[in-house]
Amino acid sequence: MLATELLTNDHNEALSLIDELKDRHNNERGNRDIFRDLDMALRMHMRVEEEIFYPELEKDVEFKGLMAESVPEHNEARQILDDMEALNNPASDEFQKLLAELRFALSQHAEKEEADIFPRALASLGPDRIDELGNRIDQMKGEAGMTRTANL
Ligand SMILES: [Fe+2]
Repeated sequence: MLATELLTNDHNEALSLIDELKDRHNNERGNRDIFRDLDMALRMHMRVEEEIFYPELEKDVEFKGLMAESVPEHNEARQILDDMEALNNPASDEFQKLLAELRFALSQHAEKEEADIFPRALASLGPDRIDELGNRIDQMKGEAGMTRTANL
């Protein structure tokens, strides 16, 4: 599977988990469980981008500086997740405020990648290399115990 498709699925999956968490009294599945899924999924997403996707793109001069630009943004998202974890109360105002911040940051991240970086990556590296990167991402997720069927 193309890495760009896989990473786009990650964005959509995370955004929909965030939207589920906006309902403070989600009883269908406890909000703590939903947060745990979101936390794992987002951290894994950032890890595969930093360890697999971006370094490969950076081999192409067109993408020089991508890591330097993206890692601080990822660290900011990790900080928000840490703060949410520490609160451990999805129904609280503080948690909901952080959730809104996270949603904003993630939607900007997704927009930038899907509208700009991914199309340029496909054009520069070609579908075969992007597909190979998708396999490596899948493998890393598999080793971390995250299967594609769970899509997280
Ligand atoms: Fe991403």
